[in-house]
Amino acid sequence: MEKEELKKLAGEEALKHIEEGMIVGLGTGSTIEYTLRKLGQMVREGFKIKGIPTSIHTKRIAKEENIPLTNLDENPIIDVTIDGADEVDSNLSLIKGGGGALVREKIIAFNSKRVIIVVDDSKIVKALGIDFPLPVEVVKFGWTSTKKTLEEFGCEVELREIIHGEPYITDNGNYILDCDFLRIENPEQLEIDINLIPGVVDNGLFINLVNEVIVGSKQGVLTLNKEKTVV
Ligand code: A5P
Repeated sequence: MEKEELKKLAGEEALKHIEEGMIVGLGTGSTIEYTLRKLGQMVREGFKIKGIPTSIHTKRIAKEENIPLTNLDENPIIDVTIDGADEVDSNLSLIKGGGGALVREKIIAFNSKRVIIVVDDSKIVKALGIDFPLPVEVVKFGWTSTKKTLEEFGCEVELREIIHGEPYITDNGNYILDCDFLRIENPEQLEIDINLIPGVVDNGLFINLVNEVIVGSKQGVLTLNKEKTVV
C-alpha cells in the first residue's frame, strides 16, 4: 500500500471515536485532512458535532466541508482531539510542528479529555529526533539570541523558511527554529528546559498528552494505547 493509503486508513479510522454532540479538536496536517474530509461527509449527512481547529489551514478546510466550528473560549473542554504527528515513540510521546501549528495544537491537546493521534507507520520511531528536527516556535524579537541559546543544547538550529531567505511565519506571527538533535535522550526534561528560554513560545515535544495512536500499516490499522488523567 502507498503511504497516502496508510494515512487515509488511520485518518478515517479515528472517526469511529467521535460521537454525536461532541466538541472535537481538529488537528493539522495531511493525515488529519483525511479525517476532516470524511467528517465533512458525515456532517452533510446529518451528524452533529462542533470542531475547534488547531490552525488557520484546518479552519479553511473545515469551512469548505461545512463542519460547524466553535472555540476554546466558548467550549473550554474538548471531548476528543484528533491530530497527526511527525514522530511517535514507545511512550506515545511525540514530535509535532512539521506543519507549523504546534502551539495551537498543544493548547488544544492539553484541554482535551482524550487525544487520538493518526499516523502512517513511518512515524513510529525508536527515539524522538531520529528522523525529524524538533520545531521550536520563538518570538521574532531577539530570535538570533534565542537560536544561540538553543544551540547550547547540542543541536543544529535552522530558521524555517518558506522560500530561500523568506522566514516561515506561524499563525501566531512568530518564527520556527528547527532543532536537529539526531536523537533526543530525555524528551520529558528537554520539553521543560527549552520552554524556560526567554523568547521561546513552545516546542513540538508532546509528553503525556496522548491517549491513543492509530497507525496505518500494511497489516491494517494498529492502535497503541496509554492511560491519561482526564482534564
Ligand atoms: C502540524 O504542525 C503538525 O504537528 C502535523 O500534525 C504533523 O506535522 C503531521 O503532519 P502530516 O500528517 O502531514 O505528516
